[in-house]
Amino acid sequence: MKDKLLIIFVLGLLMSACSEDQPGVIDENQNFNENDGANNENNGRDQRLLLNGAIDLDNLLNYANQEIPEYINKDNTGSNTISNIEASLGRVLFYDTNLSSDNTVSCASCHQQEFAFSDPEVRSQGVNALTGRHSMRLVNARFAEEQRFFWDERADDLEQQTTMPIRDHGEMGFSGNSGDLDFDDLIERLSGIDYYNSLFQEAFGDQIITEERIQDALAQFIRSIQSFDSKYDEGRTQVNSENQNFPNFTALENMGKRLFMDGPQFQGPSGIRIGGGLGCNGCHNAPEFDIDENSRNNGVIGLAGDQTGIDLDVTRSPSLRDLFSPGGVVNSAFMHTGEFSSLEEVLAHYNDIDIAPNNNNLDQRLARGGGVQLNMTQQEITAVVAFLETLTGSGVYTNEKWSNPFN
Ligand code: HEC
Ligand code: HEC
Repeated sequence: MKDKLLIIFVLGLLMSACSEDQPGVIDENQNFNENDGANNENNGRDQRLLLNGAIDLDNLLNYANQEIPEYINKDNTGSNTISNIEASLGRVLFYDTNLSSDNTVSCASCHQQEFAFSDPEVRSQGVNALTGRHSMRLVNARFAEEQRFFWDERADDLEQQTTMPIRDHGEMGFSGNSGDLDFDDLIERLSGIDYYNSLFQEAFGDQIITEERIQDALAQFIRSIQSFDSKYDEGRTQVNSENQNFPNFTALENMGKRLFMDGPQFQGPSGIRIGGGLGCNGCHNAPEFDIDENSRNNGVIGLAGDQTGIDLDVTRSPSLRDLFSPGGVVNSAFMHTGEFSSLEEVLAHYNDIDIAPNNNNLDQRLARGGGVQLNMTQQEITAVVAFLETLTGSGVYTNEKWSNPFN
């Protein structure tokens, strides 16, 4: 009885579908036999296209097998290997304002593709507050020795990091405190959305949504954001080591590279530089330009914007790749405070390190001799800036796979 009803139902569906496609009189039985497969395929096909076709479950964009240069060796992926389906789910989550309590904010509000996934604002607007610190670029986050995330490394790994903004009262508002919704409310909300049913089904074999699955998917998406099409990479492939001059660099860029890579020579035990390089590579390690795990703070200890107070805990920096847009404009202000809007200002900071009396967490490399004085010449400054500009790629700013699927 059930089967009969089903057949009649399907037949009805087919007839109405066909009468639209093929006007005219059709032999019902013949039609059923001939077009059965084709029509089911069509119906199925529609369900495989999500968000107006931005996600095609049968033809996912490539996240899992991107080309990584052979000189890139650091990788914090751990066991959460990138798959195309989970990274695609991560992309949808990343751009979805449903992840904020009042549906106004997504991860991408504060991490914008055109600015290397940072925010041009010094402090970002969340659902209930401005952020305390400046947003961070998310380019090449995967390729680093340091496993921990955030400026102060308070997240043990990227997976843990990804739901912390969601659970934050100020940022996305699912804190469960002060009258906020909690994480279960978010799960309930997402469970009622068709495209998540399809995506979770495809990724995990069922439609169950858990915080861990959300974390894995978001972390995969973020780890997939890579940028290795810079002038630097072009040059790096032409030599055997970081320290050789790059054939595609100008003399100034090669000079800047040398200054970045080499350690300084100091006068005796003092912090006064009398030769050598600037020692940047000791903490921002080429070719990933990720932060040295052992770095302490770099003497930038204020708060972002017009807040007052001190912040001694910032010991992490995002990769120094993609500080500039492909057009040569700074993507967003520098440091957790966003207090420097140009690299010249950054270099002026490192040129003359002041040890604040309360700064017991200043890195020893900068504290030497009562505070390092690099005595950079104007030409050295120009050279380092020219070098850091070579670290900018182009694909990461426009590639569809990292773009907003809701557009
Ligand atoms: C309201 C703005 C805002 C929203 C929304 C937001 N972020 Fe952030 N993000 C920030 C700020 C600010 C920081 C630095 C905060 C700190 O270190 O204290 C940050 C840091 C990060 C980092 C650390 C990067 C690193 O190199 O250590 C990651 C990863 C990240 N966010 C991912 C996400 C994801 C995923 C979402 C969405 C679930 C999200 N963010 C939502 C503003 C935001
Ligand atoms: C002792 C380790 C150390 C050394 C040496 C060092 N840095 Fe840093 N750098 C850091 C830390 C830690 C941060 C994050 C500081 C913050 O936001 O408060 C940082 C941040 C930066 C930033 C800002 C990144 C961003 O995303 O906003 C730039 C640019 C930078 N450093 C460039 C340099 C250059 C150029 C040199 C060499 C002259 C250098 N650094 C030397 C540790 C170091």
